[in-house]
Amino acid sequence: MKMYKIAVIPGDGTGPEVIREGLKVLEAVSRMFNFKTNLQMYDLGGDRYLKTGEVLPDSVLKELRTFDSIYLGAVGHPDVKPGILEKGLLLKLRFDLEQYINLRPVKLFPGVDCPLKDKKPEDIDFVVVRENNEGLYVGEGEFINKGTQNEVAIQVSRNTRRGVERCLRYAFEYTRNRNKAKKLTLCGKTNVLTYAFDLWERVFHEIGEKDYPDIKRDYAHVDATCMWMIKNPEWFDVIVTDNMFGDIITDLGAMIQGGMGIAAGGNIHPGGVSMFEPIGGSAPKYTGKGIINPLAAICAGQMLLDYLGETQAAAAIEKSVIKITSEKLKSLAAGKMGFSTAEVGDMVVQALQK
Ligand code: IPM
Ligand code: MN
Repeated sequence: MKMYKIAVIPGDGTGPEVIREGLKVLEAVSRMFNFKTNLQMYDLGGDRYLKTGEVLPDSVLKELRTFDSIYLGAVGHPDVKPGILEKGLLLKLRFDLEQYINLRPVKLFPGVDCPLKDKKPEDIDFVVVRENNEGLYVGEGEFINKGTQNEVAIQVSRNTRRGVERCLRYAFEYTRNRNKAKKLTLCGKTNVLTYAFDLWERVFHEIGEKDYPDIKRDYAHVDATCMWMIKNPEWFDVIVTDNMFGDIITDLGAMIQGGMGIAAGGNIHPGGVSMFEPIGGSAPKYTGKGIINPLAAICAGQMLLDYLGETQAAAAIEKSVIKITSEKLKSLAAGKMGFSTAEVGDMVVQALQK
């Protein structure tokens, strides 16, 4: 029987509550589809930092490298200064484990309220491939004359040929395998960011023409991308973009698919250790109330299994989630589902079918 070693980092706030439901579902599908998960829990996050001062000890990072995947809840604690956990844990994992792709599906499930008038599930079904290791997120920059009237703050976007090319290749391959409209849209800002997106655009067309002639290439500036996502989301199949733009447009994407209660993502290092997470934050105000929606975490578990090759189990989870959104939940918002966090997890388990 196949066995997967999975590191679980429930993290902060509502992270542990939603991961608990995600693990329930993983456990149930593993029995149905005959594989085993060997789970190792890690208490990384705000509480550990406040107690010990540790964010991500080297020894833990070394251990994490030995897993098949990482399942992450949420990072961010109201008593910890913003940036410490985000940079020291989440971004450090993404960078040090070279998870150079952030894969974020934007899919409106049946029964889910969409804020866009007249848009249906068939209109909102695309995937954002966000570069996850470079751009503005490298933390390069400086202050000049800090604290004075002549202060200058510089923040550099670093884009390497290698980093851009591997991200674009992943996006082309993903578009091919997705086998829908076979259209890849590069989202950039070539009219202003004439270094960074000049490189992106050149590599996009160069490798697209040579190695992916079956994939239609399209380009949209990031501001226009936001507009089309609202006006004509059905135009998109796969969008590829840099780290910062990807961060922004995927929050917009989460809203048009029904909110943070359902949006999941994967931090992927092809061939390496990848990490899957609900993309909403730790939601301190809902913590411990049992009212947060666990579907995003459950969908992150689905992506994790899909990535590990358990495609049937992953498909079964999606089917079950769709059954719940279309037949049971009143809303996807915390406190408005009509059920508790644990009840939603239980219903997903009950609805599972081969
Ligand atoms: C995300 C988050 C992170 C990011 C933060 C928490 C550092 O917003 O996963 O999108 O900016 O990437
Ligand atoms: Mn974000």
